[in-house]
Amino acid sequence: MRNRARIEKLCPHIVVTMREQAPGRFGTPLTAGATRVMLLGSGELGKEVIIALQRLGVEVIAVDRYDNAPGHQVAHRAHTIDMSDPEALLRLVDAEKPHFVVPEIEAIATDALATVEERGVAVVVPTARATQLTMNREGIRRLAAEELGLPTSPYEFAESLEEVRAATGRIGFPCVIKPVMSSSGKGQSTMRAADDVEKAWDYALAGGRVNYGRVIVEGFVDFDYEITQLTVRAIGSDGEVGTFFCEPIGHLQDSGDYVESWQPQPMSDTALARSREVAEKVTSALGGRGIFGVELFVKGDDVYFSEVSPRPHDTGLVTLRTQRLSEFELHARAILGLPVDTTLTTPGASAVIYGKLDAAGIGFEGVADAMAVPETDLRLFGKPESFARRRMGVAVSTGPDVETARSRAREAASRVEPVA
Ligand SMILES: Nc1ncnc2c1ncn2[C@@H]1O[C@H](COP(=O)(O)OP(=O)(O)O)[C@@H](O)[C@H]1O
Ligand SMILES: [Mg+2]
Repeated sequence: MRNRARIEKLCPHIVVTMREQAPGRFGTPLTAGATRVMLLGSGELGKEVIIALQRLGVEVIAVDRYDNAPGHQVAHRAHTIDMSDPEALLRLVDAEKPHFVVPEIEAIATDALATVEERGVAVVVPTARATQLTMNREGIRRLAAEELGLPTSPYEFAESLEEVRAATGRIGFPCVIKPVMSSSGKGQSTMRAADDVEKAWDYALAGGRVNYGRVIVEGFVDFDYEITQLTVRAIGSDGEVGTFFCEPIGHLQDSGDYVESWQPQPMSDTALARSREVAEKVTSALGGRGIFGVELFVKGDDVYFSEVSPRPHDTGLVTLRTQRLSEFELHARAILGLPVDTTLTTPGASAVIYGKLDAAGIGFEGVADAMAVPETDLRLFGKPESFARRRMGVAVSTGPDVETARSRAREAASRVEPVA
């Protein structure tokens, strides 16, 4: 809220118009009666949300920081702006007049979203406060652990090498250091001994989203497995917002990036019940409607809250083939005030296809071979530029059990060869 006064001063031209918040009926896209949704961030997850909205006859405006982003290619209109610039964001919202503003990434001027929400210009999904709290590890960790009393790893915040050293002294090794403003494992590393601290601190400083120099130091949780508990807040049969759970998704992470996911992850009844209790509490506290990816560590019957995305989760790409409605369709429905159905139809798995090379306009060979793997489908995201470690596509497979689906997805992903 620090920027509120600045935004008001910068943007006196922003016209405040109250618009219908949740449509009782759906209009025709590209006419005055259209239901309009603006995606802030239009990567592979946003692209699938856009396709789901398009199928419901919604007018969709895709926004990203670079041209021809995946979602740009399937929306009614596409814009390229710096979404961390509050004035640029507010000007675009005012020009496009969406009914719903749907963040797909964390790096957004969340103060501008608060302005949009407070002025009643559009509904921010799920809420402006949720986007604010989750873009900073400190906000969501303090809410989860200190306000809601959810179990987490032990943690401390630090702003200098000396403070990090002191924190590791209290928490003990191994422990994990992360910039408070970062995602996809950027700037994150595990410290195993006092000798690692200085290098880890330098790495965190370089990897943060803004040059802010604040980190979280977390005790290392020696979990048996980790899951994403997809949780939907949507209007139920009683007309009130209710909480709905998908089957748990297991996943493998490498350097903070997901490489494989599968559904359902086998769990004890106690661990599953605890996971849902944690997910219910944290998503209710964030409020609004939409899908959330609640990340949890599980050891035996113990469940630790790690973090939460108030939007579709990358590990949830598997739901494109495992659920009656994918996480993207669930998000679209929840946003629009429609009923949801979280039924799992089959076990399945996803495996990431990386760019492997640094080049623009790359090609893919072996697509037919990959699709020849039984019960297998591919998504190629259409990103204009490839990096070695950039996610360019995903293989999604089903099977009689998770193990079969996992080996199919891995095999299919390995058959796709990026070429210059
Ligand atoms: N305290 C921890 N103990 C053990 N593993 C962790 C811990 N924190 C993170 N990890 C591992 O690193 C991954 C990425 O960390 P996360 O906090 O989710 O960062 P990001 O926001 O970049 O996704 C997690 O999914 C988990 O595999
Ligand atoms: Mg994560």
